[in-house]
Amino acid sequence: LPPALGSLREAAFPFGAAVNVTLLRANAGYQGVVTREYRSVTGENAMKFRSLHPDAATYTWADADYLVQYARQSNSRVHGHTLIWHQSLPAWVTGFQGDSAAWENLMRTHIQTVVGHFRGQVASWDVVNEAVAEDGTLRPSVWRQHLGPDYIARAFQYARQADPDARLFYNDYGHEYGPTKRTAILSLVNGLKARGIPIDGIGLQMHTNINRSDANLAAAINTAAQTGLLVHISELDVAVNPSNLATLTWSDALASAQKAKYKLIVQTYNALPAAQRFGITTWNVSDADSWVRGYCSCPDWPLPFDASYQKKPAYDGIVEALN
Ligand code: G3I
Repeated sequence: LPPALGSLREAAFPFGAAVNVTLLRANAGYQGVVTREYRSVTGENAMKFRSLHPDAATYTWADADYLVQYARQSNSRVHGHTLIWHQSLPAWVTGFQGDSAAWENLMRTHIQTVVGHFRGQVASWDVVNEAVAEDGTLRPSVWRQHLGPDYIARAFQYARQADPDARLFYNDYGHEYGPTKRTAILSLVNGLKARGIPIDGIGLQMHTNINRSDANLAAAINTAAQTGLLVHISELDVAVNPSNLATLTWSDALASAQKAKYKLIVQTYNALPAAQRFGITTWNVSDADSWVRGYCSCPDWPLPFDASYQKKPAYDGIVEALN
């Protein structure tokens, strides 16, 4: 057997985590694990529209700048999340009154200002997030309503102009649900690529759970790679309470089911051509920090570290898949 990894930093591709900047600033234990294990960081919320651009004429950079500075000091890559999304928009955008030219100016200014601010320091961006609905149609977001379906292509062009060296991703969830949404996302991405729109990669969020079939998880990863683009598993977590039971006890059975899913996902990803493996990012660090508990208002343990920042069997599954 090859020697065990000292940390996930030694993986053949960048292994990362989404980071809560409030915790990163205030909690030495949290920062210690992030620094030891991960060589890529994504702001869980710090680079969203509402965080960076709360009023038309106001940009608030402090948390995102802190993350970028932290990454430089800890020798980590920064992935930017996210420029154009229908959620986490400030009220001034959701209530914006203007014709399509004014909306275009709003979108272009936001992208150019944000990408320009971090030029050379943020290696990659989720340019457009979650534009596709469950049935495969384009989601009727404010962007789609005011700018038409081709807002997606133009967002990528504005981002490329603002930082020609940043890798540009389309990011979405549900590739592993089955063919309907997956096919729609892949045809959107392939269409952009065929038109020469500057897209470099596809982000698979992979907010998944222990009941998702291995076949669907593997198909999500392998069909994304068939686009020829970079593949980023961008928001990985594996929930163990998919039915949102009000009470549930953590058990060896749940731990080993979760370990098996993490292992399958990382093994499948690790088998992709090296040049397409942009990285895997988990969505935060410990079970206590995960969005899942708040979202379902139920007990869950979705991440590779427990609430005391100790490694779980899921972590061992990742290491076994990397070895
Ligand atoms: O910081 C404010 C605080 O000032 C305010 O008082 C409080 C009251 O609601 O809200 C706080 O902001 C919350 C923020 O998280 C920071 O904790 C927002 O309400 C809450 O909506 C936000 O949730 C985030 C969610 O995206 C929406 O932006 C989650 O933390 C984050 O994990 C989640 O991440 C998303 C990805 O961006 C896209 N893919 C799905 C993924 C999970 O939903």
